[in-house]
Amino acid sequence: MANIDSSSRDGFTSKFGVIAAAAGSAIGLGNIWKFPYEVGNNGGGAFLLIYLFFIVAIGIPVMLSELMIGRKAQKNVFGAFKLLAPHKAWRLVGVMGVFAAFLILSFYAVVAGWTLEYVYLAVTNGLANKTPEEINNIFDVFMSGKLIPVLWTLLFMLLTALVVLGGIKNGIEKYTKVLMPLLLVIIIVLDIKALTLEGAGEGLAFLFNPDFAKITPQVILSALGQAFFSLSIGMGVIATYGSYIPKSQRLGNTAISVSFADTLIALLAGIAIFPAVFAFGMEPAQDEGLVFRVLPNIFNQMAGGSLFQVLFFLLLCIAALTSSISLLEVIVAYMSEELKIKRRTATWATTGFISGLGVLCVLFSSVFGAFVFISSNVLLPLGGLFIVIFVGYVLKQAEVKQELEAHGGRFNLFKVFIFIVRYIAPIAIGVVFLKGIGVIDLIL
Ligand code: PFF
Repeated sequence: MANIDSSSRDGFTSKFGVIAAAAGSAIGLGNIWKFPYEVGNNGGGAFLLIYLFFIVAIGIPVMLSELMIGRKAQKNVFGAFKLLAPHKAWRLVGVMGVFAAFLILSFYAVVAGWTLEYVYLAVTNGLANKTPEEINNIFDVFMSGKLIPVLWTLLFMLLTALVVLGGIKNGIEKYTKVLMPLLLVIIIVLDIKALTLEGAGEGLAFLFNPDFAKITPQVILSALGQAFFSLSIGMGVIATYGSYIPKSQRLGNTAISVSFADTLIALLAGIAIFPAVFAFGMEPAQDEGLVFRVLPNIFNQMAGGSLFQVLFFLLLCIAALTSSISLLEVIVAYMSEELKIKRRTATWATTGFISGLGVLCVLFSSVFGAFVFISSNVLLPLGGLFIVIFVGYVLKQAEVKQELEAHGGRFNLFKVFIFIVRYIAPIAIGVVFLKGIGVIDLIL
């Protein structure tokens, strides 16, 4: 998104390009690092079921709403609300999105830094021929060092800044088109190996057999938060991408394809991890190190495992990069379009500030945990709530329909969509959120 003044807005060159870039934002550490960790800590199958329900019933409609707002306004989120909304207060939704981007990118860069360390370990054979206990230890020792995690975080932020300065076509589109399918192939190879491990069945049962006794309001809120986080919705990233989609393209297809790809990758990651967790005698409910403690064991048992391991962590870094650039882009687009700060200055200032927050996340795990919780379970659901209310009640239905039907096409599910954004989504998000953070219990 190199040039953002309205006369020469940069755009995507092909339909696949938009889907690839939005999928690039959606698919990342959220699918491979956060999803298994949330499933493990929230009781397995029941969490998965609620998560899938939220993706379909709320996630896809919110994504479609965002795409529509962005494309209609041809602006970043803040500018979009400024243009489309009758009242100034709506701009706060954009501001909240920018704030969420700061928080998410701060801890995201830290976890991406861990994957850089694992690329390094894999390349230097530091993970080969190790027992599961030794693999476990490697993560603990690495984390307690602090300095190395800080350096990797800073390097990752630098990479993110460099890609964002490169502009949209040569920055984002080029990489995601080839590399995401490759990541998919490697995860499938991992799945096949994981499923043949002894004890794999127990892991599959954990992932797919719902035990409803484990469901609490907090579990439901985590599932909602994870759905928003994984799809990159609720904060304007997708609206910003929507503003680059040609008017002739139908948005419904984009929302469905991106959500499908995102959910597929998360599921496949779960299918690799949980069988291995049980096969290696580990606990599914673990700290944020789960995938780093588990996956190297599978590679160690595979023919050609060291090569796959290098490739896997490298691609995971790249998947993280295609997400982190979308986060930085939200902030930079806002600063350059609304505050009229030069893109270059905005990019470096933001990168510097977020690097500082990232260091705090490395040093204090409570800050890390708070940033994860507040962004996924508070800011994104609230952002999503305002977005559906905006589309359901503030915009005129005829306008919404016209934007979704893109040049005379048809959007068969329009009635369903409007019903969801007017009734189902706002009520569901509101109740899950208030109950999950305990407000409803205080009142009732
Ligand atoms: N969806 C990304 C992932 O799953 O890794 C994370 C993310 C990117 C969240 C962009 C939110 C966002 F705006």
